[in-house]
Amino acid sequence: MKSKVLAMLIKSEDYVSGNDIAKELHVTRASIWKCIKALKDEGYEIDSLSSKGYKLIHYKRMFNRYELEMLIREMGLDVMVYHFDTIDSTNTFAKSLDDRSALIVANEQTSGRGRLGRTWSSKRGDGLYFSLMIRPNLPPYVLGMLTQLSAIALREAISEKALIKWPNDIFISDKKIAGILTELITEIDVVEKVIIGVGLNLKQVDDFKDVATSISEEALDFDPIEFFRTFLSAFFRLLHTFTKTRNIAFIKEELEKHSYFMNKEVYIVGSNKDYVFKGVMDNGNAILENSVGELEEVFFGEISLKRR
Ligand code: BTN
Repeated sequence: MKSKVLAMLIKSEDYVSGNDIAKELHVTRASIWKCIKALKDEGYEIDSLSSKGYKLIHYKRMFNRYELEMLIREMGLDVMVYHFDTIDSTNTFAKSLDDRSALIVANEQTSGRGRLGRTWSSKRGDGLYFSLMIRPNLPPYVLGMLTQLSAIALREAISEKALIKWPNDIFISDKKIAGILTELITEIDVVEKVIIGVGLNLKQVDDFKDVATSISEEALDFDPIEFFRTFLSAFFRLLHTFTKTRNIAFIKEELEKHSYFMNKEVYIVGSNKDYVFKGVMDNGNAILENSVGELEEVFFGEISLKRR
């Protein structure tokens, strides 16, 4: 409700009476008063005049649950929003939810998880940490494809110059700027939930400076609400097509055009065979050409560039 009150204040150029807000939202004046107090506590400058009501002065967009909820409503999405100051892991939390779909954002994670059992360093201020939980009514084999789909949406939201490092990383200037951890909760052979977890580096962290870049290092324009607008709109647009086609042929061209590996020499981490990256299959698997010119399909694991 606070986000609805905030939206009304933003829309109105003059004072709005508590009565009018209460009527519009079908709640009591006392609950409006409580909302206003909570919004003030959050840092919004709201003037209250007993004769006229409330007015928002110097509105500056913030990044909090209310603004995210406003965005979700504006976009016409049916997504519940959770915003934590601190949490163990937004992906883990998403697993416990009963909502139809949800966006979970945290300022810091105490047990952030990465792909392949790794940890994801999630200190306050260093990054944006979030999970999108959906229930798409799809079979479990879609996991890899949903990661590819998310990578396209994430790249679009980060920067035109970002590249997709198969299967789940976003790279700029030869360094990682974001990673995706897609998890499924399945029941027999139906997907109950899909959780797309994203860690985006906002600040440059010394410990990772050789392998990671960040929004600040790349001097990218970044507004978290606009980031979510682009990401969510691209993601749901692609998901809509995907639920009908159940393959990613429709994004193959884009995946290959923005691929970090395309036609480059690579190796599979843990093996010493060399390959050339030839693209992505309709099912999301990578296509690698081996040293005798045969094509091999890779569906799991990690690929790295061969450095000379
Ligand atoms: C990777 O590159 O290994 C994937 C990293 C994914 C990290 C994000 S941060 C938000 C969400 N919650 C987690 O615990 N992990 C993902």
